Amino acid sequence: MNLVIIGTGYVGLVTGTCFSETGNRVVCVDIDKAKVAKLSAGQVTIYEPGLEKIFLRNLKEERLCFTSALASVVNEAEVIFLALPTPPGADGAADLKYVLGVAEELGKLLKDYKVIVNKSTVPVGTADKVRAAIAKNYKGEFDVVSNPEFLREGVAVEDFMKPDRVVIGTTSERAKKLMSELYAPYVRQGNPIIFMDERSSELTKYAANSFLAMKISFMNEIAHLCEKMGADVDMMRRGIGSDERIGKRFLFSGIGYGGSCFPKDVQALIKSADEFNYDFKILKAVEQVNANQKVHLVEKIKSFYQGNIKGKRFALWGLAFKPNTDDIREAPALLMIQSLLQEGATVTAYDPEAMPNVQQELGNTINYAQSQYQALEGADALLIATEWSEFRTPDFERIGQLLSSKLIFDGRNLFDLIKMRSMGYHYISIGRAN
Ligand SMILES: NC(=O)c1ccc[n+]([C@@H]2O[C@H](COP(=O)([O-])OP(=O)(O)OC[C@H]3O[C@@H](n4cnc5c(N)ncnc54)[C@H](O)[C@@H]3O)[C@@H](O)[C@H]2O)c1
Repeated sequence: MNLVIIGTGYVGLVTGTCFSETGNRVVCVDIDKAKVAKLSAGQVTIYEPGLEKIFLRNLKEERLCFTSALASVVNEAEVIFLALPTPPGADGAADLKYVLGVAEELGKLLKDYKVIVNKSTVPVGTADKVRAAIAKNYKGEFDVVSNPEFLREGVAVEDFMKPDRVVIGTTSERAKKLMSELYAPYVRQGNPIIFMDERSSELTKYAANSFLAMKISFMNEIAHLCEKMGADVDMMRRGIGSDERIGKRFLFSGIGYGGSCFPKDVQALIKSADEFNYDFKILKAVEQVNANQKVHLVEKIKSFYQGNIKGKRFALWGLAFKPNTDDIREAPALLMIQSLLQEGATVTAYDPEAMPNVQQELGNTINYAQSQYQALEGADALLIATEWSEFRTPDFERIGQLLSSKLIFDGRNLFDLIKMRSMGYHYISIGRAN
């Protein structure tokens, strides 16, 4: 099938690459000309495990290419995907200017029947708005389909190639048939393609992310209780997670959720609900708990130093909002850095992939280390903000030698309390005894 993907960020690039992997001809379009030039030259613009190999293979086979010239490629496509940003506007609602702007542009370009598929996360009713924006200038036949994306950064290729489910919102039989054909190679193991109306499909994405965010905030509240009551959140997590109705995943307490999706999607669903005169109480609490949790570790640090961290030097392991990505959007580490700097401390950070992105945002307000151990040299304490695998079983003897005291503040509960105590560490984590 001939496909055009508009927007070549985390979702668009993975979508385009993975569709080309099953033999489709894919043209990815982006307004960012520098990005298009890099991708065309064989340089993957995001860090995503497994992506580079299939990207290079399909680029070489000429099944995958990149351009900024939408007008010259759009009519070759049978299906056009929108993978455009939907950032929060000033009031928290999803800003649809990118999606509707492109839809209007498409209306001026289309010459015959196309399926326009919205992969961006958008509020209920957006399919109707996209349809109206196209129809302003195009009177021919077309269908607008909602196909929310559930990939997780860090395992995005695997998620795309073997999705738990594919959700497709459309009532058009013609569009349904095309979408079924397109996704057939990805659901061969029997995972379902779930067809529904557009509104239900649009809401499914927000409901999924909000539910997961709610699990995290719930566990973070339980962690606060554990700290007050002398219980251990990790033991409790195992205790409840083995109940199939609850499930083992998304039960880790820490320093709050971040990333480009949960914060903005929770906010957007609250706002959407408001617009429909519904006060979504649970979600408002989820958001508030998360905002507090992002500063919880800094509060522990300040309390350890009796409120004064001026002149302290901290080593920080982890900047990305989660492991296996270079994405730093809404990363808790960045908020931590901001608070520490404000209080007069200095920070030397290390992250396997996210340092270039942080450097673009924070410049030289912090120091960047070449390795996790270099970050420790002369620091007063180690702080952990992201659970990269390489941080899980570090050389504790070396850490002890490099730090000025054996002190670790762990926002991800990576280490065993008894082991840390036996090695003489002062180890402060979340929802467990100090
Ligand atoms: N990142 C994720 O993990 C994830 C997962 C599921 C869904 N989503 C949703 O997918 C959408 C895209 O997210 P993302 O993380 O890929 O965003 P992104 O910011 O990484 O990428 C968006 C891309 O669109 C390009 N763009 C902007 N305006 C354009 C235009 N007029 N024409 C062509 N290209 C244009 C930008 O240059 C950028 O490369 C959002 O709605 C997001 O909520 C994201």
